[in-house]
Amino acid sequence: MKDIFVKLGPNSYEIKIGWGIISQIDNQIIDLIAAFSPNPITANKVVIITDKNVAGLYAGSLANKLEKKGILVKQVSLIPGENQKNYSTLEKIYKAFFEHQMDRKCFAIAIGGGVVGDMAGFAASTFMRGIPYIQIPTTLLSQVDSSVGGKTGINHPKGKNMIGSFYQPKGVFIDTSTLITLPKEELLAGLVEVIKYGMIRSESLFHYIEKYSVDILHLNERALEYIIYSSCKIKAEIVEEDEKEGGIRAILNFGHTIGHAIEALTNYSRYRHGDAVGIGMVYAARIASKMGIADNSVAVSLETLLKSLNLDTEVNDIDPKQIIEKLYQDKKTIGGRLRFVLPVRIGEVVVTDRVSDDIIYNVLTE
Ligand code: NAD
Ligand code: GLY
Repeated sequence: MKDIFVKLGPNSYEIKIGWGIISQIDNQIIDLIAAFSPNPITANKVVIITDKNVAGLYAGSLANKLEKKGILVKQVSLIPGENQKNYSTLEKIYKAFFEHQMDRKCFAIAIGGGVVGDMAGFAASTFMRGIPYIQIPTTLLSQVDSSVGGKTGINHPKGKNMIGSFYQPKGVFIDTSTLITLPKEELLAGLVEVIKYGMIRSESLFHYIEKYSVDILHLNERALEYIIYSSCKIKAEIVEEDEKEGGIRAILNFGHTIGHAIEALTNYSRYRHGDAVGIGMVYAARIASKMGIADNSVAVSLETLLKSLNLDTEVNDIDPKQIIEKLYQDKKTIGGRLRFVLPVRIGEVVVTDRVSDDIIYNVLTE
């Protein structure tokens, strides 16, 4: 098992990564709960938040193990899907907290992908002004990105993740073997976020994926551990430097500016988040090339890698003007100016508000 300690003062926590760890983490979870709430009555109760796909695969057995050790467990299984990341689903989580008579020291445990993790985290951050929670991510995307760093939230008709908070988990347990049951398209969407880390901070990670994509897609234990550990390490370092996205954390949004607009314009139903980010990264790289910030070979390498994984690299049937209009509704705009993360080379990016609408229009139409 590999460990990463995320240093955030009183909000610090450990990320544990390993193949098959989910069958052994009950004791560690109990220790974590006991350390946080020495009162045995409080330490006795948890609500597990999962979705209906993950419940039977992983959540149920963990719940049984915890129950056998004297923990009172209530499980809430949500309907899977991005379109469920909303107020009414959130309400189901609060209802479970109330029914289980949770108090401020009781833990919520999220087991599932980013949708479950983001919603469980947001519910935990707001219930009684904050109860502790643990992340057990089961998609590649949630293992390398959403479970770490404390961004929580739900979508609003006006935009993705528009209602949310920064609220760190007390621990993150990443069992890489849960990816065995994950549909291949979901694995690929998660791999895009790993490519993102390579693009923003680690040329060697980018080249590792180029070289070992077959091993990764065949779920080779060592390859998975390497890419997940490397990604979490990069994310942890960036979050430690800038927990609430006042500065450097913005680079984690590489590919997200156009990616989010594409997701919104297709009603969050055509593209997985990771797939849309992949397209957004390619457009960002083409913008960088047009502006003379990066050599054109950066966009070409990125596009070649995504294509080799059968991932989309552009959209041709959405009006570019609509995309540009949508960009201005993103929560990352500042003072009405768009902020783009652009590559300088593979492994390094810059944040800029100097990208003109004309350049965006050009790369979207060429
Ligand atoms: P998801 O949570 O919708 O999961 C994808 C699908 O896989 C679901 O149908 C789920 O039920 C299923 N699933 C999960 N684990 C499985 C497993 N091991 N075996 C079989 N099926 C499994 O999608 P996601 O890609 O994990 O997360 C996307 C969400 O994450 C988006 O809402 C996005 O906004 C959010 N996100 C948040 C952050 C953050 O920092 N908080 C970062 C990136 C993305
Ligand atoms: N996924 C972007 C962030 O966590 O900041």
